[in-house]
Amino acid sequence: MVTSGVLALYLLSVLTVTYCTNDDDKKVFSGKIMPLERYKRLFVEHRRIQLEAVKSLQGFDDNTRKYKLVNVMLQKLFLVLSEAKQNLTQWGFVPGIDPFPDNETVREAFSKVVENTAMFGDLVLRLPDVVHGLFDKNTEWNALMGWCVWFSAESKVFDGGSEKLLNLMSQEINLIPKEDDYINPFTEENQKLKEQAMKDVLETAKVKNKD
Ligand SMILES: *[C@@H]1O[C@H](CO)[C@@H](O)[C@H](O)[C@H]1NC(C)=O
Ligand SMILES: *[C@@H]1O[C@H](CO)[C@@H](O)[C@H](O)[C@H]1NC(C)=O
Repeated sequence: MVTSGVLALYLLSVLTVTYCTNDDDKKVFSGKIMPLERYKRLFVEHRRIQLEAVKSLQGFDDNTRKYKLVNVMLQKLFLVLSEAKQNLTQWGFVPGIDPFPDNETVREAFSKVVENTAMFGDLVLRLPDVVHGLFDKNTEWNALMGWCVWFSAESKVFDGGSEKLLNLMSQEINLIPKEDDYINPFTEENQKLKEQAMKDVLETAKVKNKD
């Protein structure tokens, strides 16, 4: 069993480490392989690690500590996002118009935005009650996440599963209207409904057996 301290360190490292800076990747980035395609592969790999981290947090059953841990993570996540946004804006980088950045410094900020936006998506979808409790009333975070989702959608990095994630998280935080059939199965309310539905099915089965 991991302690919450170890888990916190692990989760924070997932937020801040960028995976495209080792020598091999540097060579690839400056070489002939299309950098965006190469980056997208790293992005998918990194997404897998992030999702594992969020799942381990989901399974953490001490609610007070879970809340504290998520709070620390969100503070860090939005700090990184805010700094990356400031840099990219200052450098005049426009996603969707400017090509995928060759410049390593720019690429690092770019990657901080797309990776931490996706991580936020995992967090708000899988731990909705905890994250809404911290995020909804924070107007600064809301505005920043709006920018990040726009940036990510334009980045050309999100496709398939990650594009779906971006769409679902946008509904979850009301950036776009919720579709009629949108439900988040991870809310406490929906978890309870699911348990109730299971009980009802069992009860009905019992009654039928008596008949
Ligand atoms: C933003 O730019 C500053 C100064 O160049 C740099 O120290 C910092 O690491 C950058 N942060 C991000 C997230 O791009
Ligand atoms: C990369 O971009 C940053 C920010 O625009 C700039 O300061 C730096 O000189 C660039 N580096 C290279 C190698 O072009």
